[in-house]
Amino acid sequence: MVRAVVLSLVLVVAGWGLIAPARHFVFTAASAQDDTPENSGLPAGPGREEVFYLCQACHSLRTVLQQRLPRWEWGYTLDWMVEEQGMAELDPEERELILNYLGTYLSATSPR
Ligand code: HEC
Repeated sequence: MVRAVVLSLVLVVAGWGLIAPARHFVFTAASAQDDTPENSGLPAGPGREEVFYLCQACHSLRTVLQQRLPRWEWGYTLDWMVEEQGMAELDPEERELILNYLGTYLSATSPR
């Protein structure tokens, strides 16, 4: 009985020793990205927060960041998100804000 208790204690301690560093690694790796608008990789500017929260609801912001499109093509992308991908329709002011953001900071000529 004592042996069984000692053995299970050893197993628990040894197991935790193995799991804790792995957990630490997994959680820091996962929380290092897309955490806040500031560290998301989105350039600072009006509309950043809206893009951060809205676009990340369905996919990684990398999907957004890897695209470099002129404003009119971002317009098509937003329509496509609404018509085909299930994004809620934006009210005109929000759409304008987001389109201005995307067309300014994520156009083909914006710095990476
Ligand atoms: C309701 C869910 C939803 C929301 C909200 C959403 N998307 Fe998407 N988006 C999708 C899906 C589904 C795809 C399809 C492919 C995929 O899974 O990456 C996609 C793909 C994309 C692509 C890739 C297009 C390509 O040619 O490969 C871009 C760019 C994009 N979205 C931009 C945005 C932006 C910008 C926003 C915020 C304004 C946004 N999305 C919000 C669902 C969404």
